[in-house]
Amino acid sequence: MIDRRRFLQNAAIAAAATVSAPLSAARRSDDSGSGATYEPDTLPANPEDAARYRPPYKLGAGTTQLGNIFKITPDAQAEAMLEAQWQTGVRYFDTSPWYGLGLSERRLGHFLDDKNPDDYVLSTKVGRLLIPDASVDSVGNWKGDLNFDYRYDYTAAGVRRSVEDSLQRLGVPKIDIVYIHDLAPSNTDFDDWREQLQIAIDGAMPELTRMREEGMIKAWGMGVNDIEPAVAALDAADPDVILQATEYSLVKHEDALDRLFPRVREKNASVVIGAPYNAGFLAGVDRWHYGGEMPEGVMAKRDRLRAVAKAHDVDLRTAALQFTAAPDVVSATIPGARNAEQARENAASMRASIPAAFWDELKSEGLIAESAPTPS
Ligand SMILES: NC(=O)c1ccc[n+]([C@@H]2O[C@H](COP(=O)([O-])OP(=O)(O)OC[C@H]3O[C@@H](n4cnc5c(N)ncnc54)[C@H](OP(=O)(O)O)[C@@H]3O)[C@@H](O)[C@H]2O)c1
Repeated sequence: MIDRRRFLQNAAIAAAATVSAPLSAARRSDDSGSGATYEPDTLPANPEDAARYRPPYKLGAGTTQLGNIFKITPDAQAEAMLEAQWQTGVRYFDTSPWYGLGLSERRLGHFLDDKNPDDYVLSTKVGRLLIPDASVDSVGNWKGDLNFDYRYDYTAAGVRRSVEDSLQRLGVPKIDIVYIHDLAPSNTDFDDWREQLQIAIDGAMPELTRMREEGMIKAWGMGVNDIEPAVAALDAADPDVILQATEYSLVKHEDALDRLFPRVREKNASVVIGAPYNAGFLAGVDRWHYGGEMPEGVMAKRDRLRAVAKAHDVDLRTAALQFTAAPDVVSATIPGARNAEQARENAASMRASIPAAFWDELKSEGLIAESAPTPS
């Protein structure tokens, strides 16, 4: 990574570019045709002196699309999406054994194979071990051939094996952050999620702390779609980063603001925001999260948000993404992109400027919480 002096110089250049110049000022080179190339230090950065490990930059990439969530992402499109992420300066990638039952890790690892491991941050997850099984033809939202089934294991031995399996599948020499995946009340595989939580408190959590002390990983946390298990882990152990998905977005954030962020701040930890568009909803897709019904009122709320955005000439998806990165406790937001164009648009959104009057109006209309931090 870059030294401190260059980092500060680049941060100053990037800040100046954002305030006073069009996007092209932050470009470092042009690849003639398929989009400009940006250095990572043109993205919003985390403070270097944070008490606990944080990824250096506030934009990362989710990779459920590499696991064929909802529909098949062809190989060439997956590769082009990752190339575009890298080209636009994204250097943090989040995956999981669960995403396409190993496919997301395989595709991401193939892409990272020729990259210097010091140049990127990689997170994956533990809690499900993959079992070879050619007869499996449908699991969850994952499309296409799977070849694997899975079983849960939140024990110490289970999470260590899971990390080792992920390293083999990824084919890379390191994993930076490990999240305990989907140990949550909304996971319908569990009769009693609290039983699983206790197994993790006794097994996975102390083992991940040991792996951090051994230097095998830099940080660990929960990767969950509910707030309760994230708070439970902060109470029971010493996680560094909580990957909180679906609970902090432009349309849904009060609970995270009230119950999660203060606890995270107290523990000097940070939050990575998963599903910042509510699984595509705020990017314009008529889909809400990963199953179940569209909650009452969210379509009407999106319409009202769109109307305010239009009045201020603001792109709603851009506002939605920047909103998730604004709180001091947030160390990254990780939108998923289906293709190269979406990847480029997401990175451009983090470099765009939004007038303060837009955020003021969202507050005065009661569309976002009064206490919600907004981008400056
Ligand atoms: N429990 C957990 O740990 C957990 C849970 C959820 C998510 N996460 C993490 O969060 C990441 C992101 O979540 P996600 O991808 O499911 O949801 P998301 O980021 O909220 O939405 C991604 C979807 O939004 C649409 N989209 C993205 N960029 C767009 C653009 N520029 N223009 C138009 N549409 C755009 C695409 O929909 P289409 O594909 O329909 O085009 C894309 O698949 C995941 O990959 C994962 O890393 C973690």
